[in-house]
Amino acid sequence: MCGIIGYIGKNNPKDILLNGLKKLEYRGYDSAGIALKNDNSVQVIKSVGKISALEEKLNREELISANMGIAHTRWATHGNVTLENAHPQVANKITLVHNGIIENTKELKEKFLPTYQFKSATDTEVIAALLDKFYEEEKDIFMALSKTLNNLKGSYALGILVSDINKLYAVRKNSPLIVGIGKNEYFIASDISAIINYTNKYMLLNDDEICELSYESVEVSKDGVIIDKEVKTSDLIDEDTTKGSYEHFMLKEIMEEDKVFEKTLDKYLNNMDLLLDLKNYNEIHIVACGSAMYAGMIGKSLLEEYADIKVSVECASEYRYKKIFYTDKTLVILISQSGETADTIAALRKANDASIDTLAIVNVKTSTIARLAKYKLFIEAGVEVAVATTKAYLLQVLLLVLLTIKTAKSKGLAVDVSEIKEIPKYLREIFTRKDEFRGIVKEIAHSEDIFFIGRQIDYAMSLEGSLKLKEVAYIHSEAYQAGELKHGTISLIEENMPVIAIVTDDDIKDKTLSNIIEVKSRGAKVILITNDNFLEKSDINIVVPKVNKLYQSMLVVPVLQLIAYYTAMMRGCEIDKPKNLAKSVTVE
Ligand code: G6P
Repeated sequence: MCGIIGYIGKNNPKDILLNGLKKLEYRGYDSAGIALKNDNSVQVIKSVGKISALEEKLNREELISANMGIAHTRWATHGNVTLENAHPQVANKITLVHNGIIENTKELKEKFLPTYQFKSATDTEVIAALLDKFYEEEKDIFMALSKTLNNLKGSYALGILVSDINKLYAVRKNSPLIVGIGKNEYFIASDISAIINYTNKYMLLNDDEICELSYESVEVSKDGVIIDKEVKTSDLIDEDTTKGSYEHFMLKEIMEEDKVFEKTLDKYLNNMDLLLDLKNYNEIHIVACGSAMYAGMIGKSLLEEYADIKVSVECASEYRYKKIFYTDKTLVILISQSGETADTIAALRKANDASIDTLAIVNVKTSTIARLAKYKLFIEAGVEVAVATTKAYLLQVLLLVLLTIKTAKSKGLAVDVSEIKEIPKYLREIFTRKDEFRGIVKEIAHSEDIFFIGRQIDYAMSLEGSLKLKEVAYIHSEAYQAGELKHGTISLIEENMPVIAIVTDDDIKDKTLSNIIEVKSRGAKVILITNDNFLEKSDINIVVPKVNKLYQSMLVVPVLQLIAYYTAMMRGCEIDKPKNLAKSVTVE
């Protein structure tokens, strides 16, 4: 949700922190701030708006010469978007940045800080004030930190400066934070992309470990006992985190789909043993949020049809709180690009607590979900920066396709794998048709309401197409099961209203075509996305290569992604960082 970076070492922290914030901006971007520290003082500079606003402010201010600092880019939860609520938050000797949510601030204020004059509406200032109070009482930062953490309920990743200690502290619970190891310089960051320019060596922090970073070393401890941490090496390269010649990350990431598809396919097709055989489960719950859930809807269709397993799909924010009927043959599949989505983590914990098998399909290998799930399968999407997911979504679908194939084969069911290797070639063909899609979006870019219709697996694709358009182009759109539209919603169809119809599934093609006629006769302008060259012409037809149903969605959704992208371009939207959204939603 928010992005954190911290630095201690021989170089000037300002540029390092600022560069890191730019890499973390996808995590939240309504305000930002930085704290610099030397032996004598701590200087805090904050601004409302994007990182560029903070950068301009830093260029105007006279800065102290410093050798450590912390910085933060915010996605507001507690408190509006104001300068006071931006991080770092300061309480006397303590300056800190926070990612997460503290749920018991009211109780903490009443119990420990009844007379404290809070300057912000944030939960973060409560942590700062509490830590300062305990530091004042204990005179020992470790004691004070332990006491503070023991009293916090909720999630946190914290970077902390203490005005009279020349060290930097980091702790986390249910919120991501890594420690970067450079040469006589050390970092903390919400993810490795923020520091990859400086080091590819990092350590993972576990819940409730305290990390003390000094000029010479990093020490991690829990309950006073030093812990020997493994230093890992990241294979990320800086190029992965830059736009290159593309105007937006979203387009760059769509254009990478053929390559990441090949990479992921190579990994699993050559070694199907890596995949979990689902034949011993008689029921699967797919639990996820946003696009990951819609990838799950495609998976449901395929697993049910080809692998003959009952599958339900549910958004994690509902699943975590409802009564679930598990059996000893239930598998819960969690799908998450980031592996840090708070609701998906909670759903995973719920299944773990019930001793149910869990399988995570994740992109970020170091993430919480990857760490907590019993089985894990990684997609090879590389870094995805644009807030709206594209290439990771496609690979989530691919993994579900591969699981379907593996399980169907193991059950002796018929499944045709001949075309799977052809998909990247077809994707490249689709990507040469950018002008066609750019032309088509003129028909929808000025609309304020759009419907997507489809049946069965075509409906699952419609859901993702509709979400993409909402996310990046800010057009109100609804995905409807084509047959359901006439039960009320068709009253909203007006002259020239765009309806994007997806018709690829031969089994129910004729039924959806009837629904197209229904909306056309009420004035809708139909854009038909199909794999059938011979279908009667709608107002606009987009024909994608026809492949086996197992793979078809992976040739339709990229078209929907491009339509959303070019529509957003035409409407002048902030494509990579849409308003109010954040890529990694680490709060409920
Ligand atoms: C946010 C993003 C979506 C993403 C969803 C789930 O809402 O904007 O693009 O699908 O989170 O994220 P995850 O990292 O769990 O896949």
